[in-house]
Amino acid sequence: MSTRRDFIKQAAAVTVTALAGHSILSPASAEAKKKALGANDKIHIGVIGVNSRGKALASNFAKMPGCEVGFLCDCDSDALARCQESVRKVTGKTPKGEKDIRRFLENKDIDAVVIATPDHWHAPAAIMALRAGKHVYLEKPTSHNPAENQMLLRAEKKYATQVITVGNQRRSWPQVREAIEELHSGVIGKVHFAKSWYTNNRPSIGIGKVVPVPAHLDWDLWQGPAPRVAEFRDNYIHYNWHWFWRWGTGEALNNGTHFVDLLRWGLEVGYPTQVSSVGGRWRFQDDWEAYDSQLISFQFGDQAAGSWEGRSCNMVPVDGKSSGVTFYGESGAMSLSGGNEYKIFDIKGKLVKHVKSTVAFRDGDLQNPSEQLDGFHFQNWFNAIRFGEKLNSTLEEACKSTQLVQLGNIAARTGHSLQVNPQTGFIIGDPEAQQYWGRDYEPGWEPFI
Ligand SMILES: NC(=O)c1ccc[n+]([C@@H]2O[C@H](COP(=O)([O-])OP(=O)(O)OC[C@H]3O[C@@H](n4cnc5c(N)ncnc54)[C@H](O)[C@@H]3O)[C@@H](O)[C@H]2O)c1
Repeated sequence: MSTRRDFIKQAAAVTVTALAGHSILSPASAEAKKKALGANDKIHIGVIGVNSRGKALASNFAKMPGCEVGFLCDCDSDALARCQESVRKVTGKTPKGEKDIRRFLENKDIDAVVIATPDHWHAPAAIMALRAGKHVYLEKPTSHNPAENQMLLRAEKKYATQVITVGNQRRSWPQVREAIEELHSGVIGKVHFAKSWYTNNRPSIGIGKVVPVPAHLDWDLWQGPAPRVAEFRDNYIHYNWHWFWRWGTGEALNNGTHFVDLLRWGLEVGYPTQVSSVGGRWRFQDDWEAYDSQLISFQFGDQAAGSWEGRSCNMVPVDGKSSGVTFYGESGAMSLSGGNEYKIFDIKGKLVKHVKSTVAFRDGDLQNPSEQLDGFHFQNWFNAIRFGEKLNSTLEEACKSTQLVQLGNIAARTGHSLQVNPQTGFIIGDPEAQQYWGRDYEPGWEPFI
């Protein structure tokens, strides 16, 4: 466990690099983005959804200089209490807790929110937060479905004085940035193909039993914008919601989003022209609705092609790593593991360079793999809020990466390839696939901008 002092040292170094090396928005737009916060004002942060990832984020933000994590929101009072205690251990102060996101966002003392709820809440919560005048750090995936990406981008435009970034934190990791720079400068020649992957050994989630809603959970708030289920079952929360389409988006968006984002960044491509996918839930006969084995492939016109392989129940690594992305160029290959490091191979496969992380990374820690590295991403968001610094992870780029994988799930669910307009990301024709573009909302909970 790192200390607040380690974080402060590192974040100070990041600030200096960021100010020296990154592009800054024009003074006019920087002014607009600055809102009421001065360069030395503390950013008052509220974290929404604090069970697992949100708890890690709250503690990590609490270690950052220039901010205070004074407010937490969760509709599970047990999760809330655990996170309050974990922040208190870092700062010595217990953040205020609130269970209802609507009341939470009315709090004028909160400048910025971190959203780490289940996926069905991502876009609706981010839109509510922007409307309430908060800066937003939104966990990946940006949304539950492609229609919500469009809503988010409209909201970002409308509430332009706030800064919204997304938790695909590898965009800020120093050796990952270095790798992509090397790639773009031609270290392995022209790149035509990249593959990405994620593997794990997840157990069965079983067949859920109908049980009373736990006393510590407000199930109505948890479901929020998602249409209500008739009964509460004991295998929905926490975490297992990922595998139910009503709330989650499967392994493809749970972990694939990170690596498809790197793939798209490395290949310098936007939306694809064609997406195909095959997969199934085969390892266990249980309530899990998404896939435990899936392959998604992307065609980017005549520029390049790429793939994502997901194996939720077989952790045998690819290229020696449980997750990652490998780029294949005309004169060699570059491989990035899920961590902050990369390798370069010549065209015969001989390792010619291994750049190791200068910062600690805990492989296999799913909630907080990058405790130290998170600081780089947080600081970039702070600098964007304070000085208008360019974001490493813009909403536009994160929505594109999210949408690529969403299209992969739609291709798998319809059982056929999708033709996609590379300018807009829209599916061409295909009424069957269009059914998955958006979702039904629980009346009264529809997101609006
Ligand atoms: N960037 C990363 O490396 C990374 C790592 C892990 C998870 N994540 C993302 O973080 C998100 C959360 O994942 P998790 O594993 O922590 O899930 P989780 O189920 O453990 O926690 C989600 C929490 O959100 C709370 N919640 C639900 N509705 C809420 C509401 N209306 N208001 C306030 N709180 C609400 C739940 O009660 C729960 O405590 C996911 O979208 C996941 O994709 C990102």
